[in-house]
Amino acid sequence: MALVNLKQILLETRTKKYAVPSVGADNHVLFEAVLRQAEEENKPVILMIPGFLVKDMDPRFFEYARLRIIQSPVPVCLHLDHAASYEECMNGIKYGFSSVMIDGSSLPFKENVALTKRVVEAARPCGISVEAEIGHVAGGEGNDNDGNEVDVNAFTDPAEAKEFVELTHVDALAIAFGTVHGVYKGVPELKLELLDKIRALVDIPIVMHGGSGLSDEDFQNAVAHGISKINFCTGLFLSTTEAARAAIEEHNNKMQLPAVLGVINQAARKEIAHLFEVYNTQPVALADIAHK
Ligand code: 13P
Repeated sequence: MALVNLKQILLETRTKKYAVPSVGADNHVLFEAVLRQAEEENKPVILMIPGFLVKDMDPRFFEYARLRIIQSPVPVCLHLDHAASYEECMNGIKYGFSSVMIDGSSLPFKENVALTKRVVEAARPCGISVEAEIGHVAGGEGNDNDGNEVDVNAFTDPAEAKEFVELTHVDALAIAFGTVHGVYKGVPELKLELLDKIRALVDIPIVMHGGSGLSDEDFQNAVAHGISKINFCTGLFLSTTEAARAAIEEHNNKMQLPAVLGVINQAARKEIAHLFEVYNTQPVALADIAHK
């Protein structure tokens, strides 16, 4: 069985200096494309669906996702991204996610701690890992292509990050050090010295949200400075749409849906192959992580 949680899939990232791609896969087409690329390269991958989408999705999709992952030879984490409440997290656990993110990053510190602790207490006995966020990565995914600005006032405070981890016992921590969700307004600038300070104080895997729009060098720097999981959604959505548009145009607007889906599959796989390369993602032996 290759369904693993976040703690397991990120276990070797720091010693071997790589990150695992965490990719938006809320539909069958992207889900299969990402998973097949992971299988072809024998690499671990995290498939994410955001909390706000889950309530409107057919629960049978999660059954399919779980079964497909269980039968896959590579380690895969099925992660509920940005759940906004305790109830959303419990719903994700009910649907079979192996990992949840509780996002209390807009709440005051104490409230974020209390909410995160409650989720950890419920999830841990079920073997479900929990990611939380301290500081706040601005912007949202979706159709806002005008761009989002980095909020320097919401960067993660290293001492707060340390205290947060000690109080909540989360499995992975998302931090804010120069990224935004969605399309960037301007050129992104990662504050690597801030990441270093946080890394030195926090002894669990650190997560970078807002991967889309960063350069290969940004990714390589983030990994070299200790990032274990990199979320990447908008870039995948945009590049697959662009590939479909270009192919349709190339065929004088006479392309049928199955062929368009084939183009999208290939474009998504190419994007994931690129992420594996720039994140330096390494194969993981299931036996080494399964009982952790
Ligand atoms: P991007 O859409 O900017 O890649 O961010 C994804 C993300 O961080 C999801 O949590």
